[in-house]
Amino acid sequence: MTRAPSPSTGVQVAITRIDADGAGIGRVGDDEYVVPGAFPGERVVATPLVRSRHHARVHARLEQVVAPAPGRVRAPCERHPSRGGRCTGCPLLELDLESQRRAKLDALRALGLDADRIEGSAFAAGYRRSAKRVVFRRGGALALGSFERRSHRPADMRGCAIDHPLLSRAADAVADEATRLGVEPWDERSARGELEAVWLRTDGARVLVTLVTRQPDARFAALARALLGRGGIVGVAASRRDATDNSLRGEPARALAGDATLECELAGIRQRLGPLGFLQPHPEIAERAYRDLLLTERGEPLSGNEAWDLYAGAGVTTRLLSARFARVLPCESYPESAAALGVEAQSVEQFLGERLAEGRRAPTLIVANPPRAGLGEAVCDRLARTGARRITVMSCGPAALARDLERLERGGYARCGVRAYDTLPGTAHVEVVVWLASGASPAP
Ligand SMILES: C[S@@+](CC[C@H](N)C(=O)[O-])C[C@H]1O[C@@H](n2cnc3c(N)ncnc32)[C@H](O)[C@@H]1O
Repeated sequence: MTRAPSPSTGVQVAITRIDADGAGIGRVGDDEYVVPGAFPGERVVATPLVRSRHHARVHARLEQVVAPAPGRVRAPCERHPSRGGRCTGCPLLELDLESQRRAKLDALRALGLDADRIEGSAFAAGYRRSAKRVVFRRGGALALGSFERRSHRPADMRGCAIDHPLLSRAADAVADEATRLGVEPWDERSARGELEAVWLRTDGARVLVTLVTRQPDARFAALARALLGRGGIVGVAASRRDATDNSLRGEPARALAGDATLECELAGIRQRLGPLGFLQPHPEIAERAYRDLLLTERGEPLSGNEAWDLYAGAGVTTRLLSARFARVLPCESYPESAAALGVEAQSVEQFLGERLAEGRRAPTLIVANPPRAGLGEAVCDRLARTGARRITVMSCGPAALARDLERLERGGYARCGVRAYDTLPGTAHVEVVVWLASGASPAP
């Protein structure tokens, strides 16, 4: 990135869509303008800030909305930048739900993902069952929040509108008790401090808290005892991480106080969830996606001899598939989740490599639900060689999904249907299910 040349004065931009981060996108001459806070259908004045070195792209600051979108509303969260906050986690909160969903469908279309519809619910506040927070010092106290968009500047999230109220209460309890006990927040620059991040998850009645640290000898026993019973907290665990990635998920957690697991129900399946296992943030909408994984794109039920459940998490899809298929093979690399499935932790790359080497008969269906980064080239190539009649991919990373689909199509699979699920209203995130079949004519 280089500093954009003049003008320092505003430029008029007509916004046509949002990008993956929820920022408004519009063209000015040959340049693509990226304007956070602006929405499709709007005309805005924006100040150019930085020009991308490799693309004709200018990142700009919204100065004025000249012609607002009909769906523009006041953000229903006091942490939103439009209300003086600094949290950039929910860039679409200034749009009503219908407009958010239209913008998400358009953004998918721009990636070549033509969804037949977007499934959503009217329940757009207080829905999130799983959240991670970074810990930082603000004044004399600790605060829990997130990093501002494209930076490592922390933003307070106290009173977050989309977190389940129990998660908000638990986060407040962690901040208050850690402050009272003199726990030092992790400081990136000096590489000192104890508490770096906190994971919170709830089944809707109880909360598990995981304290993430970089220090092998961090002592959180007093904090764990103080937290138990506060704000619905039934269990506290600790996890150490030394990775430099942004996942903030450390090594498998060890229980410090109270319960080590929660029992959650999703799509009629009871699931034991540990402190760091994958939990869908919006169970009501995730359930619709899970049920669709058992059907064809036309809604016909699938069944057969064998199905593989790749990136299986703690196993809801595995169990749903087991009711329809004589044999279901799950694959999951995170030890805590693999243990819940009763299998060895293994990567999908390895799993597919072994199955291909064995020369087994192809399964009827492969379900793959990779993380945001997608399947990648090696997995797509191996998937295409399995000979499975159907592959259904569920993904929360549309850009990676679009790339994966091209690879699978080159490998002989045809796209039969695409559907979107609004699992994180307020944010730009969207879950997508794509149905693929080998050859051109899909068979149920
Ligand atoms: C988006 S989650 C889906 C989990 C599950 N299907 C569900 O819906 O609850 C992705 C899962 O893939 C696992 N994972 C990530 N990379 C993997 C890999 N290379 N091989 C196997 N599993 C992986 C993660 O630990 C996580 O549980």
